[in-house]
Amino acid sequence: MKQTDAVISGTGLFTPEESVSNEELVTAFNAWVDLFNAENAEAIAKGELEARTHSSAAFIEKASGIKSRFVLNKSGIIDPHRMTPQVAERPNNELSVMAEIGVKAAQQALNAAGLEGSDLDAVIVAASNMQRAYPAIAVEIQDALGAKGFAFDMNVACSSATFGIAQARDSIRAGSSQRILMVNPEICTGHLNFRDRDAHFIFGDVATAVIIEAKDVAQSSSNFEIVDTRLQTIFSNNIRNNFGFMNRTDERGVGTVDKLFVQEGRKVFKEVCPAVAQQINTQLADLDLQPEQLSRLWLHQANRNMNDLIARRVLGRDPTEQESPTILDTYANTSSAGSIIAFHLNRDDLTAGDLGVLCSFGAGYSIGSVILLSLIHISEPTRPLY
Ligand code: COA
Repeated sequence: MKQTDAVISGTGLFTPEESVSNEELVTAFNAWVDLFNAENAEAIAKGELEARTHSSAAFIEKASGIKSRFVLNKSGIIDPHRMTPQVAERPNNELSVMAEIGVKAAQQALNAAGLEGSDLDAVIVAASNMQRAYPAIAVEIQDALGAKGFAFDMNVACSSATFGIAQARDSIRAGSSQRILMVNPEICTGHLNFRDRDAHFIFGDVATAVIIEAKDVAQSSSNFEIVDTRLQTIFSNNIRNNFGFMNRTDERGVGTVDKLFVQEGRKVFKEVCPAVAQQINTQLADLDLQPEQLSRLWLHQANRNMNDLIARRVLGRDPTEQESPTILDTYANTSSAGSIIAFHLNRDDLTAGDLGVLCSFGAGYSIGSVILLSLIHISEPTRPLY
């Protein structure tokens, strides 16, 4: 039986109104360090406690490429007495924050695909963190949009979106759905330890959305066929967050720093980059494609130097900014949403027959790569496809 081809027919991006520059973040961090060291002067003098060290905006930009990040709440993050975003709890009869930003991104994606919420027959929320255990955020978004069918949440950390696209495509190919919304509401500032000098600059907040449809029902004039998906996971403790429903069963661990994002950044860099490049190269070879046939690499947006290295290993030369676009300078790491933001903002110049790879990597480790083929109009390709 011929399997149904799937296309990406629309994307959406919700960007919070507030942003925090490296300088603002470092000013708050350094003020907190001074407070901490003053409050603990005696213990530090006795050698019982280590004095904290200032952060540096120049280090952050050089080490990561990040200049600023969008956030849901700025005042709580840059308050040295708080160092945590302040987002009010909502009553159960109001849309939750994750669902709200997901719906905003979803509405844009639906518009781009020429669809209404009621045209959808499945909703997947794919993100690194869910703001509650249940009911699934995806079911709340399904309800808010008036979508039919079923909805579920899934979490593969920074690779959630590519894994979500793969699940959506598999569902379409298996015939269980025709039109799927995959949403990535990433409130990364909620799990970031703003008192951790090694990591306080890493994340920002955002929501992205992608419509994946069976090719024969898609109406949008600018679709990308999903040529191939490849998923890989390799267990590692180098990016970890021990927050979870069992925390309350051992009071000693409640509120400790391991209940927020923790990483061994240097190890992640060294271990993940070669694995990502190898996965893309193997995938291309299996499809009888040459790296030079790739017009674009929409890579996960964690670190500029990582992306340059991966792109170099795939292409065999330095990438141009157009070939491997960077959005982390203004968005920082937005977990699973990063590669989708890059795709959303950097694809309009492509024409029918152009190929690209959407690729994410992160905790797990997890690596997802999706080969996409630009179709100007699904029924009228203007030149022979790859
Ligand atoms: N300000 C100033 N100096 C800092 C600093 C800060 N905020 N944070 C760390 N440093 C210092 C360290 O103390 C260290 O000093 P030393 O050489 O005297 O020991 C030096 O800078 C290098 O630290 P290191 O942690 O090795 O930096 P790095 O070059 O590896 O960059 C990351 C850090 C996090 C930007 C980088 O490792 C990274 O992005 N890794 C991949 C992360 C990733 O993709 N994670 C996935 C998350 S989903």
